[in-house]
Amino acid sequence: MHTIGFIGLGVMGLPMARNLARADHALKVWNRTPARCAEIPEATPVARPADLADCTVVFVNVADDAALEAVLFGPGGLASEGGSAIVVDMGTTSPAYTRDCAQHLRELGMALLDAPVSGGEAGAEAGTLSIMVGGDAEVYAKVLPLFECLGRNIVHVGASGAGQIAKACNQIVVSATLMGVAEAFHFARRQGVDPARVRAALLGGSAYSKILEIHGQRMLDGNDQPGFRARLHKKDLDIVMAEATGLGLSLESIQAAARLMSQLVDAGQGDLDSSALHTLIK
Ligand SMILES: NC(=O)c1ccc[n+]([C@@H]2O[C@H](COP(=O)([O-])OP(=O)(O)OC[C@H]3O[C@@H](n4cnc5c(N)ncnc54)[C@H](OP(=O)(O)O)[C@@H]3O)[C@@H](O)[C@H]2O)c1
Repeated sequence: MHTIGFIGLGVMGLPMARNLARADHALKVWNRTPARCAEIPEATPVARPADLADCTVVFVNVADDAALEAVLFGPGGLASEGGSAIVVDMGTTSPAYTRDCAQHLRELGMALLDAPVSGGEAGAEAGTLSIMVGGDAEVYAKVLPLFECLGRNIVHVGASGAGQIAKACNQIVVSATLMGVAEAFHFARRQGVDPARVRAALLGGSAYSKILEIHGQRMLDGNDQPGFRARLHKKDLDIVMAEATGLGLSLESIQAAARLMSQLVDAGQGDLDSSALHTLIK
């Protein structure tokens, strides 16, 4: 049995940590807002990320690059006092930062896997996430049994950063689909046709997607509670845009999605679920 660490008990991290605890792994946890640790009484809370340095594997699921930097290398950070833990970043961070981070950890004798996920809060709760992994194949093989507590579709995509590239691709598809569903519902309404009936009809055909199923229902219900916060979705689109610009690529659908997501965040609605984008299209 391993002693596992988990940093970041947000919408995604908390149910993922619970699934690891349910699989009988001894678990130590840290969250910036300590009160969150009470939501997982089966785990042992620690005072600082550095207190997880004796764990075999430490999962991290925090908001963005800056948060990852803080919990790894900031004061009291996981890597601030050395150690040999395998660090597994399950959040969505930039491929460029991931590669730097892996290099920095390697110099300190630690390994990093980038292992972002898709499947949302429901997938995190059910342990059915898609997990896309970048990093050393031997390290991946060691962590695979733990990934199997969290997800069903687990793919070692390639070297360090490749998992985050796969996640950027995921966000390209998801963002375009989210806009498509919102526009289809808007179009139906303007035609005097019930979008709920349209959704029901589309679910059985080629337009089926998880986005149509889950986010489409959210749009119809006006349920904007996260879920996946708009400000995190905007962060993901910023990552895609930066990578695309670096390659001289123009991704038309992502430019449109990024514009709408920025409008949502700038209007102070960054903590709503990103499917709230349908209100702008309406
Ligand atoms: N929600 C989804 O459907 C979904 C799906 C796939 C991937 N993701 C990705 O998973 C990651 C987490 O998302 P989430 O939805 O769980 O977000 P969330 O509910 O907002 O939780 C964010 C977590 O990051 C911590 N955090 C933020 N800034 C920090 C800092 N500077 N230092 C230390 N900790 C910090 C938060 O701590 P506090 O509790 O103190 O705020 C919290 O534990 C993100 O990268 C997101 O893009 C989310």
